[in-house]
This record gives sequence, structure tokens and C-alpha cells, in this order.
Amino acid sequence: MKIAKSKKELIAFIENDRINSKKIGFVPTMGALHKGHLTLVEKSIFDNDITVCSIFVNPTQFNNPEDLTKYPRQLQDDIALLESVNCDYLFVPEVNEMYAKNENPINFNFGKLEMVMEGPNRPGHFQGVATIVKKLFEIINPDKAYFGEKDYQQLIIIKSLTKQYNLSPEIIGCEIVREADGLAMSSRNQRLNETQRFEAPFIYQTLKKAKTKVKKITVKDLKLWVKEVINNNPIMELEYFEIANAVDLQPINNWNDSISVMGFIVVNVGGVRLIDNIKLI
Ligand code: PAF
Repeated sequence: MKIAKSKKELIAFIENDRINSKKIGFVPTMGALHKGHLTLVEKSIFDNDITVCSIFVNPTQFNNPEDLTKYPRQLQDDIALLESVNCDYLFVPEVNEMYAKNENPINFNFGKLEMVMEGPNRPGHFQGVATIVKKLFEIINPDKAYFGEKDYQQLIIIKSLTKQYNLSPEIIGCEIVREADGLAMSSRNQRLNETQRFEAPFIYQTLKKAKTKVKKITVKDLKLWVKEVINNNPIMELEYFEIANAVDLQPINNWNDSISVMGFIVVNVGGVRLIDNIKLI
């Protein structure tokens, strides 16, 4: 695997592939790679001739400075994992390679997509995500780019970004990869202590139970039920559970408001913010 630290190096690596009309797949990450990321890389390798992965802990998408400082960084392990699946290129820029001093930020408009769930709960988060993803797409010009459905709202926002700015890749959403006990894989899981890690699968268990109640109780009552169940767990605190249309992410009030409905949850477990979702209808 070839590793580029600068845009110039990466562009030079890719140039020949472009000339030879090779299909380029791209997997953007913030590192601390796990099987979920590797599944994206493997899918990209399967679908394309060349796969580029990026590792960049993007400061502009962290609204909580502590979250940024504590975000796990383990480049050598990440490199070994990417090599084990035969990723072609890795891009690992420093912050000053991606952001100019006194850069004027773009004010992205994602309309209602940004006004729900992670939008108000993490002010500025999607503006930061869009900023970095747009920059990366413009450097790499991939044919396809791969994102996990765990961050479902991010996936929908990136689809909107790509459309609005006419960016090159087709956006491919990939199913959530779970641990054997059901916990959605996340780099943040490393921050859980033994008790927290033991309890964390309770989130997905609750989502699965919630699904069995769809249309048997009202949308409002299901939200209250999830809130009570999660908050009754002594080490968990529900940040939100939203039931929303899977396409435009707008909350629904009745089960027949939409033909495709998802449940979105964020739970705080000992200061670690765990996110998950489930298809309800
Ligand atoms: O999902 C992530 O890891 C990040 O939000 C992304 C897409 C790499 C942008 O920094």
C-alpha cells in the first residue's frame, strides 16, 4: 500500500490510474479502524480497480473538544489492517494540509436534513463533515465512495452534498457491521470500560424489541417506551430516540406517515456517545 501525506503525492499516485481509466473507490475514515471500516474497503476493492482510504481526524466536525482529544489514534495498527485487505493507497494528511489558515468556511445548506437528530444535538457537525468530504472528493475524484449506515444521517447528507456540488462519486451506503453480541462497531467502543462494554449491546437489544412494537402502540408511546427502558439502565442516558422517514429523515407522528421508517438512537454510556439505528418499516 502506498501512503501519501500530501495532496500532491496522492494526486501523483492516482494519476496513472486515471490515465488508464481505472475505476477508483474511496473510503474516508477517521482511523481507529475496525471490521466495519474493513468491510467498506473490501467492498470498494471488489467494485473498483483501485481503492483509496483516507485517515484524517477532522477537527471541524467535533463540536465537543474533549471528544476530539479522546478520539482514538492508532495509525500503525490501521496501516497493518489496510495492508491485510490489500488497500492500494492511504491518504493521511495533517490538519494544515487540509485546512488553510483563515480559511473561509462554506455555509452548506442541507435544509431540513440538518435540522433533526445529530443536527441540533451536534451543532456544526455536518458542516464540518461536508467541508472535509467535499475537499477529499475534489482531490481524489473517486467513481464510488463508501459510507456506513451506522451514521445514517451523515450518509443522507453526503448524498445531498454530492448532488448539490455535482461531485464525482456515486455514494454507496453499507449495512451496519455488528459485534457478535449486536453492538454496532464503532471506533468509540474502545473507550468503554469492561462494565460499559458488557452493557452496551443493550442498545441494539432495545431497538430490536422496539421493532416488535411497531403499529401495536403509537409512535409517541414507542418513543416513551425506549426512553424509559434505556434510562432505567443505570449506566445509560438516552440522548434521543427518533422515529423518522428513512428518505428525508423527518420525524413521523403516525405509522402510516411514511412507507419506509427507521428508529435512530443515541445513548450516552459513561461519557461515550453511542449511535445506532434500525429499520422499523
Ligand atoms: O464517518 C466518519 O468517519 C467521518 O465523519 C468522515 C466521513 C470520515 C468525515 O470526516
